[in-house]
Amino acid sequence: MYYEDLEPGTGRREPRAWLHSSAPVLSLNGEWRFKLSAGPAEAPADVMTPEFADDGWDELTVPGHWVLQGHDRPRYTNTAFPFPIDPPRTPAANPTGDHRHWFELPADWPDARTILRFEGVDSCFKVWLNGVELGTSKGSRLPSEFEVGAHLRPGRNLLVVRVHQWSSGSYLEDQDMWWLPGIFRDVTLRSRPADGIEDVFVHADFDHVTGAGTIKVDCVSTGPARVLVPELGLDLAPGESVTVPAVEPWSAEIPRLYDASVVTPGETVSLRIGFRTVTIVDDQLTVNGRPLFFRGVNRHEHDQYRGRAVSEETMRQDLVLMKQHNVNAVRTAHYPPHPAFLDLCDELGLWVIDECDIETHGFIYTDWVGNPVDDPAWAPMLLDRMRRTVERDKNHPSIVIWSLGNESHRGRVLGDLAAWTRERDPGRALFYERDRSYAFSDFYSLMYTPLDELERIGSRTEEVPEETADHPELEARRRALPFVLCEYAHAMGNGPGGLADYQRVFEKYPRLQGGFVWEWIDHGLLLPGATDHVYGGAFGEKVHGANFCLDGLLFPDRTPSPGLIEYKKVIEPVRISGAGSLTIENLRSFAPLDDLEFVWSEEVDGVEMRSGRLEVPAIEPGASAELPLPVEAAVPVEPAADGAGERWLTVRAVLAKDEPWAAAGHEVAWAQFPLPAHSAQPGELAEPARAADPAQPATAAVRRQPERSGDGLRLGGGEFDARTGQLTRLFGLPTDGPRLDLWRAPTDNDNGQGGRNATVTAWRAAGLDRLEHRVDQVEVTDHELTVRTRVAPDGLGHGVRTTYHWTANDDALSLTVAVVPDGPWNGSAITQPCENWPRLGVRMSLPSSLDTVRWFGGGPGEAYADSRAAARVTRHTRTVDGLQTPYVVPQENGSRIDVRWAELTDADGNGIRVEGAPYFQLTARRWTTEDLEQAKHRSDLTPHDRLYVNLDLAQNGLGSASCGPAATADHTLDVAAYTFGLTWRQFGGR
Ligand code: GAL
Repeated sequence: MYYEDLEPGTGRREPRAWLHSSAPVLSLNGEWRFKLSAGPAEAPADVMTPEFADDGWDELTVPGHWVLQGHDRPRYTNTAFPFPIDPPRTPAANPTGDHRHWFELPADWPDARTILRFEGVDSCFKVWLNGVELGTSKGSRLPSEFEVGAHLRPGRNLLVVRVHQWSSGSYLEDQDMWWLPGIFRDVTLRSRPADGIEDVFVHADFDHVTGAGTIKVDCVSTGPARVLVPELGLDLAPGESVTVPAVEPWSAEIPRLYDASVVTPGETVSLRIGFRTVTIVDDQLTVNGRPLFFRGVNRHEHDQYRGRAVSEETMRQDLVLMKQHNVNAVRTAHYPPHPAFLDLCDELGLWVIDECDIETHGFIYTDWVGNPVDDPAWAPMLLDRMRRTVERDKNHPSIVIWSLGNESHRGRVLGDLAAWTRERDPGRALFYERDRSYAFSDFYSLMYTPLDELERIGSRTEEVPEETADHPELEARRRALPFVLCEYAHAMGNGPGGLADYQRVFEKYPRLQGGFVWEWIDHGLLLPGATDHVYGGAFGEKVHGANFCLDGLLFPDRTPSPGLIEYKKVIEPVRISGAGSLTIENLRSFAPLDDLEFVWSEEVDGVEMRSGRLEVPAIEPGASAELPLPVEAAVPVEPAADGAGERWLTVRAVLAKDEPWAAAGHEVAWAQFPLPAHSAQPGELAEPARAADPAQPATAAVRRQPERSGDGLRLGGGEFDARTGQLTRLFGLPTDGPRLDLWRAPTDNDNGQGGRNATVTAWRAAGLDRLEHRVDQVEVTDHELTVRTRVAPDGLGHGVRTTYHWTANDDALSLTVAVVPDGPWNGSAITQPCENWPRLGVRMSLPSSLDTVRWFGGGPGEAYADSRAAARVTRHTRTVDGLQTPYVVPQENGSRIDVRWAELTDADGNGIRVEGAPYFQLTARRWTTEDLEQAKHRSDLTPHDRLYVNLDLAQNGLGSASCGPAATADHTLDVAAYTFGLTWRQFGGR
């Protein structure tokens, strides 16, 4: 059967470029008739005939996936094929969707050849026009064209498309994403004028030494053609090469396009030409003579309602968000995107790795036995995909690299694909990651590489891969290749951690040309009427990848996650740094900084005192300039009444004028510098001011004395249970008192991947999720209350001796917590060692009415030890609900870092103020850590009538162990002795 054979298709036209033509186009998108059958055997026999009665059929929106329109169900797997591996056979249960569409041919439709074009049908289809078969096709994310010939009639026409979810092609389409069958991209009829243009291949090079541009446009036409570039005064014959002495080149930073056209008597094709030359010089990929540095993302096509049937508006939204977040490159993981996306990349400026629609990952379960990419019988199917990719997309200046596909292990046929591509388009580089010999790639590449290995690669001291160990020539070649980290920083749930560390290593070694974060957007689906996004397993799939598809920098509704905010900061194209003076570095490859304006502001205790503009001289790409500090730092400024006089200088680089992707004023880069609180020397940078240590009261303060009354004990604003030493009321508000807390609701990254790097395993084994608190002594002295406890899990010998030391001065109630590990934390013959804690701090509850939080410290978003570059020090305000980060699968989130003080207040502005010594990490939520840990979806979180507040000295870093390395040693919270302090005051006039 055609859906099980090794033919890529039948009756199709040769692949050609995606062209904007003046010839008439009729969109056939819209409401079609649809019927789903359980398998090909069950599908109606005579469905293609005009007489067939489809009255009882449903309506289906095309483009779209039937599984998202009420028929059958989506399935999500990461690597597994959701059917038995028996290539090229398909399962009997092969959902088969019959689509029927009557359309009216416009009366003025030209009396010329017409073709029918499908931009993408998943995964295999047969098509009939007016009962006549036109052909079949496979290759879900690639176009197919058919001649309609004389079968197209004036007036009403019937198009019938039978789509099979599974086909031999499915063995080549095992990307980590939802399996979403259907006609999910546009369907058009295209008139082909007798003397028209069939194909165009633009070659537009730029000579960076002379500034000249060389243009040649190859055409396949049925009439005499001319190539016109009015702006350059060019009128060329097809294939004629001309060098223009001066052109402006295209780059992702300055996406200069020249309008051009190819004209025949019967047709005009509009082109947008970008001059650029891609070469690999020594071990670096260069464009127009400059090495590229990828600040990239991997992008799947995903829409929370429509799956991969993304609208052009959504495509633009993605690119605008990328540009706004300093992303400069996209890998079209793992298939060619909708063609309009690439037009937008040309226009807005992104470097693109265009990846072919090939992934045979599921053959890991046969130890790669039967892997199509190593079987010449599959060569026609595979080559067909590569050809359709290159031919369709060959005119985009944004595409600088062709990728043969993803995670398909090794195989001879990949060599055929590489050879064909090199010959057809020598003007671009070639990429394939998974063959560790890199024989078919112009890049050395890996995924999820730990930092220490990345350092070795940068310095060329990496180990020799097995595949090249016995092949000195191949090994020498591999070692000389540029390195691109095609996937890293798995953005699943809360994370990724470590972005700044990766960036530091990338920037250190010229061989490392940056990387692509995995991935752009969470693939959560929002089903009609639902409020929670669903992920794998929601549809009763027998084999599924659960929430492994929720690993994006955007939430499924395209709201940027904290991971994207962090990435934006880390990959800023301008670095502002300073020590005594300011240094502005232009990290771009092509553009100066004249699109930016630099502004500064000086804040004291988070309140702006002064601000202005910085005069920044022209700074060429790769260059830097030093400037004096803009503040007259000698002039003392009065500290705010509630502050310690902490002074910060913030310098921001913002767009000077509107860009197509952001308005003037949009912030591109920023930095903050502490200034001396009351400076002696102008222009001096300083350590941030520290708040007073609550354990060391100022001498003038009035020290309060503990007073007993019945079972209670009062110390300043605190009421305690005299027996347990627990705080029961804080300035009159009921609380269950600050108590040591070492646990957090595990993040996806804490959970690791399939047992690998699962920090949580050691944490649970050490009983951190079930600690018991035993009070050993409550000691009351003249001015102090000291509570000595041991906090430990049942059944294990280790614990922490925790001493709470309370004092009260004037209106302040202060606590110092001393924590000393006790017993065998490093494991025994049976138990495993526990080397770090998720968090170290205290947890307390307060009335839920205190639902406004104002703080001075890091913000506005959440931040953790290894994801904190984007946190800036100032005053921030959020509601308690606004502090939560809505991860689709609930987990630890929302912690604010370096908090000097925070005020939690009710609607009247009354409440509690808490101060650090000097800083703490703040989390406040209307549910407990345990609730968060239990929840599978956001709606599982039901607010209690209490507010649960965690005041931490620190938390463990995030890492990206859900697919990659855990937090590195410098970001872990090691098991050790610690002391930290907190002070509470009543706030407001209550
Ligand atoms: C990579 C793969 C991606 C995705 C990622 C984990 O190995 O190429 O498609 O599965 O891991 O989310």
